[in-house]
Amino acid sequence: MSKTFPKDFLWGASISAHQTEGGYLADGKGLSVQDTRPRDNHEITDFTVAVDHYHHYKEDIRLLAELGLQVFRFSVAWTRIFPQGRGEINQAGLAHYKDVINECLRQGIEPIITLNHFDLPQALEDEGGWSVRTTVEAFTEYAKTLFEAYGDRVKKWLTINEPNIMLLVDQKILGHSIPLQEKYQQFHHLMIAEKYAFKLCHELIENGKIGPVPNISLVYPATSKPADNQASLYFNSVRNWAYLDFSCFGRYNTVFKDYLNQQGVTISFAPEDEELMQAHFPDFIAMNFYTTVTVEKPVKKDGMSDGISDQQSEDIMEWGFYKGYTNPFLQKNEFNWTIDPDGLKTTLQTLYDRYHLPIIITENGLGARDELTEDGQIHDTYRINYLQQHLSQCLEAIEAGVDLFGYSPWSAIDLVSVHEGISKRYGFIYVDRDEKDEKQLARYKKDSFYWYQKLIETHQLPS
Ligand code: BG6
Repeated sequence: MSKTFPKDFLWGASISAHQTEGGYLADGKGLSVQDTRPRDNHEITDFTVAVDHYHHYKEDIRLLAELGLQVFRFSVAWTRIFPQGRGEINQAGLAHYKDVINECLRQGIEPIITLNHFDLPQALEDEGGWSVRTTVEAFTEYAKTLFEAYGDRVKKWLTINEPNIMLLVDQKILGHSIPLQEKYQQFHHLMIAEKYAFKLCHELIENGKIGPVPNISLVYPATSKPADNQASLYFNSVRNWAYLDFSCFGRYNTVFKDYLNQQGVTISFAPEDEELMQAHFPDFIAMNFYTTVTVEKPVKKDGMSDGISDQQSEDIMEWGFYKGYTNPFLQKNEFNWTIDPDGLKTTLQTLYDRYHLPIIITENGLGARDELTEDGQIHDTYRINYLQQHLSQCLEAIEAGVDLFGYSPWSAIDLVSVHEGISKRYGFIYVDRDEKDEKQLARYKKDSFYWYQKLIETHQLPS
């Protein structure tokens, strides 16, 4: 098998605003749901300082240029632009991202911007968040503002990060559980908001391209029992296809509709929705991939409550539909997430055959407790191995005909994990701080930095 990536393959790395920026009240920023989120574990840091990328962005982008990145995926904090979610623009916030974009371009890096990554303005949440239609309107205004402000320089956009994981793992990501009826009304609003973003991007930005950014990973049946296969059909639909079918085909698929019916969920549509759904589509799909999921058909309730409490999804349970199952054929990382590089190839092939759209991977990576040695090094061989194995499957997928045009792993720089603090690190660049002590926030290049730098330079996966 060839070890060489196509010459025009885009090499990148990704971050989100709230997990890196800090400066949570700087220059007029308002509070987001990530700033106010109730936390079950106070031993880990919150997002108030994170890795202070807000003040270190020049240094960080310089390092990313040294890494050789062609694209840098980051999100804009909605509350820097509209501190209350809507209304008057906070010019300081708008100017900040203009500076960030210009710095990227100066360093030869193309920015890819995610409109929103888990950090809804708290002021909108107080009005009902994604459960109410007015949030769709506020999002549309916000997206329009970004397209008008940055569209001359930023041509690739991503809509709303992982709406699927945000809704499925609501307790961990938002700090509270959303009742099922409300959850799927939120689903509809999130997906309609995305449709407005597709529309506006195409109308306002010359050569602008936009894609959805869900977390997609295939769901395997635990056994060859037909009932387990049904369980995987339903969870594939609820976890993966419901979102992309809406984005790419403009419809609710039948398995998902059946799931909603059986759960007694009814979605309210606004009069314009049907037309909107079927009129605006993405140019590409951005997908995040960490692990695959395995399910069986639940036979008895086992005292488990319905829901999903971890993204890794072994503890999912929806009575009557599916229940997480430990796949005995897969290894796990130290945070209990299964590792399945072969599953990435299968996921890419399935995705491409379903939608026939170009794909970019915008997250993939290994969360680990890295150690900084006394002489300022980080020997993260485990991360190199993880990335190498997944990239090898990307190459196989490309050879098998998948139009995969880029890879932007998680994460460019260490950041605060969604619910496991700064001790769970993902970056190519180490930031010296721990859960309680921010220290000097000094940056160090990890071994994976040099490995990725060489890969980008040569387009060649080392043997
Ligand atoms: C993705 C999110 O779901 O997973 C990221 O888009 C997140 O924001 C990443 O950081 C890894 O998850 P965690 O829980 O390890 O931070």
